[in-house]
Amino acid sequence: MEGSGKQSGSPGGNGRKRALKQRLESLASSGVSSLPKQRAVKKAPVATGGGGRVSAKAPAAAIGSRIRSLDVLRDEVAACRLCEPLAKARTHTVFGAGPATARICFLGEAPGADEDASGEPFVGRAGQLLTKIIESCTLSREEVYILNVLKCRPPENRRPQPDETANCRGYFEKQLEIIAPEFICCLGTTAAQALLQTDETIGALRKRWFTWGTAQVICTYHPSYLLRNPPAKREVWDDMKLLMAKMGVQL
Ligand code: URA
Repeated sequence: MEGSGKQSGSPGGNGRKRALKQRLESLASSGVSSLPKQRAVKKAPVATGGGGRVSAKAPAAAIGSRIRSLDVLRDEVAACRLCEPLAKARTHTVFGAGPATARICFLGEAPGADEDASGEPFVGRAGQLLTKIIESCTLSREEVYILNVLKCRPPENRRPQPDETANCRGYFEKQLEIIAPEFICCLGTTAAQALLQTDETIGALRKRWFTWGTAQVICTYHPSYLLRNPPAKREVWDDMKLLMAKMGVQL
């Protein structure tokens, strides 16, 4: 799949369309079923976000403010050249996808070729497996927020380097601060170590609860690891059962 060459979230063309689509999807999954024809000037809309298993209850104005903050950050990311070699090689930055009111965020490592081409996170083989994991939890991709530590694809899909993670830290942390999820699931070593700022291995970080801001954090294996090592799917399922129990989602 080839990209258009336009930056994700850039002011014109595909980036703007994608941002608008995500904004509408985010509003819809937050329980907002209609929009005023014109920007409301006097009265704030009274609709509230659904609030439920996977989305936090929030007034429409608060949802709108989160979505706008994410849009501003998306544009910043699209213009970022802190890691010049990655910026030079990218087709799209990959900001993240999902409702601004998601109760749960899945944090991955970095875009691969398919994500770089499309501008969307987790759309390749690992992404398809992540979708299956989410659906096994009786959730859907549209109900959860998915993001990565790095917003640009590293060459040959190599692990992010410490300076690259440091350059992107401000972005993924701000993103999580805006969404303020109740739960974060770190997918793999890079995500877990970057978020929790630890050197512990993913094996040592699994089956434990951490906090990040107001979020409760759990770590599990990355879907790419599961593609190489299918028996580990059982352990990921154990982790998902822990997570769903804490979220109050019945399996
Ligand atoms: N692996 C990741 O960590 N993120 C993606 O978006 C795709 C593959």
